[in-house]
Amino acid sequence: MSEKRKIEKRYDAWSRWYDAVDTNPLFGGKAQERWRREAIGLLELKKGESVIDLGTGTGLILPWISESCKGAHVVGIDISGKMLLRARKKGCADLVRGDLDCMPFKDSSLDKAIATFTLTTAPDPVAFLKDTARVLKDDGILVILDTGKPKKKGARAVHALISKTAKLSGHTKIDRDPYALLGKVPEMKIEKEKRYYGGMVYAMKIRKFISLNPIITPK
Ligand SMILES: C[S@@+](CC[C@H](N)C(=O)[O-])C[C@H]1O[C@@H](n2cnc3c(N)ncnc32)[C@H](O)[C@@H]1O
Repeated sequence: MSEKRKIEKRYDAWSRWYDAVDTNPLFGGKAQERWRREAIGLLELKKGESVIDLGTGTGLILPWISESCKGAHVVGIDISGKMLLRARKKGCADLVRGDLDCMPFKDSSLDKAIATFTLTTAPDPVAFLKDTARVLKDDGILVILDTGKPKKKGARAVHALISKTAKLSGHTKIDRDPYALLGKVPEMKIEKEKRYYGGMVYAMKIRKFISLNPIITPK
């Protein structure tokens, strides 16, 4: 079975419990809401702009995005049909079932994008980032909220342990290095970074730089 099919199946199976777990105070639901809302703030969404929630899942953040800017056009995309059925119940965005590596959108067609806990889940994070750069307009913003290696030594040891356990269970790859991944997509530049939870969770505001005009050779 392909990695993508595995992800689809895993989240189809998980869809029923996803919101209950992710919003439960016992599993840090309050903190997760705060991080997600702060990440939405980094989008600086304006009326009339389009924003895509990449790997929207059950659409947990869709109501918060809509709340943050009433006149924005919100779209969610995910590979898992069952997660999307949950997202549909939230009723505040257009939803697309699709693959983040080859999204059904035209080049330079969207103003903003957000990915909360998707970078560590997507089977091919570089393909996902490249396709996000393709669909974003020049000067567009991508916000990533995810788990990663903390900078402090002590926290690194805890992170390594959690990372191993997560891998054993075949789940998210929380040791993915966002700097290395973004380094492979030259038009995307990190503008701002926030750290939470001893540095194990980060939010990054990334801008797609305006591409240079094509070189015109004189006749
Ligand atoms: C950890 S969940 C995060 C969901 C949501 N963003 C949130 O914050 O609750 C990751 C989501 O990414 C989706 N996903 C992973 N790889 C994908 C891909 N290549 N194409 C589309 N969706 C993908 C999964 O189906 C899952 O719903």
